[in-house]
Amino acid sequence: LIKKGYVFHSDTDTEVLLNFIEDIQKNNNCPLEEAVRIALKRIVGAYVIVLIDNENPETLIAARKGSPLVIGIGKNEHFLASDASPIIEYTKEVVYVNDYEIAIIKPDELILKNLGNERQTPFITKLDMELAAIEKGGYDHFMLKEIFEQPQTIFDCLRGRLDADAGTITMSGIEKYADEIIAANRIVMVACGTSWHAGLVAEYIFEELCRINVEVEYASEFRYRNPVINKGDVIIAISQSGETADTLVAIENAKQKGAIILGVVNVVGSSIARASHAGAYTHAGPEIGVASTKAFTAQLAVLTMIALKIGYKKGTLNHDRYLQLLKELDAIPDKVASILQSTEAIQAIAEKYKDAPSSLFLGRGYNFPVALEGALKLKEISYIHAEGYPAAEMKHGPIALVDESLPVVFIATRDSFHEKVISNMQEIKARKGKIIAVINEGDEQSLSLADDVMVVPEADEIMAPMLSVIPMQLWAYYTGLAKGLDVDKPRNLAKSVTVE
Ligand code: F6R
Repeated sequence: LIKKGYVFHSDTDTEVLLNFIEDIQKNNNCPLEEAVRIALKRIVGAYVIVLIDNENPETLIAARKGSPLVIGIGKNEHFLASDASPIIEYTKEVVYVNDYEIAIIKPDELILKNLGNERQTPFITKLDMELAAIEKGGYDHFMLKEIFEQPQTIFDCLRGRLDADAGTITMSGIEKYADEIIAANRIVMVACGTSWHAGLVAEYIFEELCRINVEVEYASEFRYRNPVINKGDVIIAISQSGETADTLVAIENAKQKGAIILGVVNVVGSSIARASHAGAYTHAGPEIGVASTKAFTAQLAVLTMIALKIGYKKGTLNHDRYLQLLKELDAIPDKVASILQSTEAIQAIAEKYKDAPSSLFLGRGYNFPVALEGALKLKEISYIHAEGYPAAEMKHGPIALVDESLPVVFIATRDSFHEKVISNMQEIKARKGKIIAVINEGDEQSLSLADDVMVVPEADEIMAPMLSVIPMQLWAYYTGLAKGLDVDKPRNLAKSVTVE
């Protein structure tokens, strides 16, 4: 293009594509739609494009591959976005454009074609979402609203599935593949960020209850490192948005190699949900705050239900323990509500430590991923450096950081690792680190060691992360608030990472 005299004003591939399309249109003397089709057959990579021809401004040409595109159908108008939430204000009817489709959009007409110029029938989906779900509803920030929604969102996630009295869990998508999951040599959880942390908790739960080998993979690593995938391997893709590019490509690669793909996804109709063989939605409602909160606890609720169902069916989880765990799970929404009843203590701790330049988050067992999640939340929202670590691993390096200025957060609820966590706390205390601990009521050992505590109700250790993560979310929120930062839109972050 440069040889032909095109001048580029940026280093973006968008500009290259635009000029490429223009060049094709000029050479072939064809309409824009035709030029787009020719261009898209020749380019590689992921994209969403929307173009307007100066000569024909009433028509938009849009196309996607790899990245999401949703078209809202209004009355003599159409709306384009990367997911449905910004559209809901205007219409509840949407069309999810598929890869390699071109949409020709006029105010009163939507035509879909494939790259072979054949018409496709647009499949109209009715959105089951209310406008209120994407408004702040009296809260200062979406993040705070979403943290406070958790008793309800976890309840919604369990509703219609968990019947603790009858001793049943109904999940039709999972039931369809239950035999394959039981027979699988291994389950691979594939996800990014907070969803990856949910996968780590699930690894512990599945191995305990189902006795199936589980691996948890960062989607971005998994997709590029030529992993060994055998026919019958079960991949569980975990994603709030359902549009994370790395997770999407990772499952598409695994699918081609014969793996069964189950999606644990929040956004209904999203790309990952559609690319999965089956799965279970998390039903947490739209998550607008960039930092993931309610999606995480809903993911844990869904993954716990899957593990309970499979473990019981497989026989690795006995009847009494199964029934006990169903009751425990049923009680989680109320326990989350009780943490949220008074948040002043957490706010005071956030204000006390808001100027610390760095912090360490430690946990063991089921609470180790909560330590990672606590550190991630604090980093994202308050820009304070934070490191999450398995508590016992700190002796192998991070303990060198500890002095009287370093806040060290212990996720120390009573579980089978508790005594060990207490001795890790003693090691920090001996080095004069400041200890902040997430504990259960009446934990005298932790109280005697910690400078500050955040108290959560007791629960079976398998479910404890759904409770111990709540103070971590609130702490990050109040720290960001105390520092005057934009907690809903932290710098440099996007809600859906649709590029690799
Ligand atoms: C953290 C956060 C991110 C996401 C990650 C995966 O608060 O929001 O780390 O968890 O980008 O996104 P999803 O779950 O949409 O695939």
